[in-house]
Amino acid sequence: MQNNRIISPSILAADFTNLKREIKRVEAAGITRLHLDIMDGRFVPNITFGPVIVKAIDELSECHLECHLMIEDPSDYFDQFIKAGSDTVIFHCEASSDIEGNLQRLRKMGVRAGLSLKPDTDPEVLTPYLDLLDYVLVMSVYPGFGGQAFIPETLASMRKIVTLRAGRPFLIGVDGGVNLRTIRQVYKTGIDIAIAGSGFFGADNLTQRHRELLNA
Ligand code: DX5
Ligand code: ZN
Repeated sequence: MQNNRIISPSILAADFTNLKREIKRVEAAGITRLHLDIMDGRFVPNITFGPVIVKAIDELSECHLECHLMIEDPSDYFDQFIKAGSDTVIFHCEASSDIEGNLQRLRKMGVRAGLSLKPDTDPEVLTPYLDLLDYVLVMSVYPGFGGQAFIPETLASMRKIVTLRAGRPFLIGVDGGVNLRTIRQVYKTGIDIAIAGSGFFGADNLTQRHRELLNA
């Protein structure tokens, strides 16, 4: 097993009728990081949940909470999602007219600053911000829904961003369609964190699935 691999389950794929039980199950499986998908029905054609649910999850969990903001005007909501308990806040470069300012704002507010790119966004957009960010989230599906098929063309973007990193300390995550069939090629690119929604919560035994994903 590679020692720098982390699995961050997307809670969107969990059973929302019993979040408390789900979070206890996830932590019992050895998970230490959770991925929270926030969707506003504008940036993506779907609506999920807001700060109230993030706060509930924060009260139930010891995990590092990475909050994936798939919303327009993300900086209007930084404060609410940070107060709710987010440890890393990720916004989309396609939804921000002030990427530098937003990254600096997040760090000033005491959280890790993350930037996400859609599959058709050229990783070169990251070049001016490489020393300002703590996390890059590479979308391997078009954002908006869990359970979609992995887009293999995004592997080239993962490799490109690993090269752009050039020893800097920021983490690289991959999000969308990551499962036992696709994770091996994803980890081969050199990324650190694999987000898994259906590929994780679809298993009966989460402890076993966690191990399988780490060792794939
Ligand atoms: C998609 C979300 C992903 C998704 C992952 O817009 O950002 O986090 O929920 O779910 P799976 O792993 O099922 O593709
Ligand atoms: Zn996500």
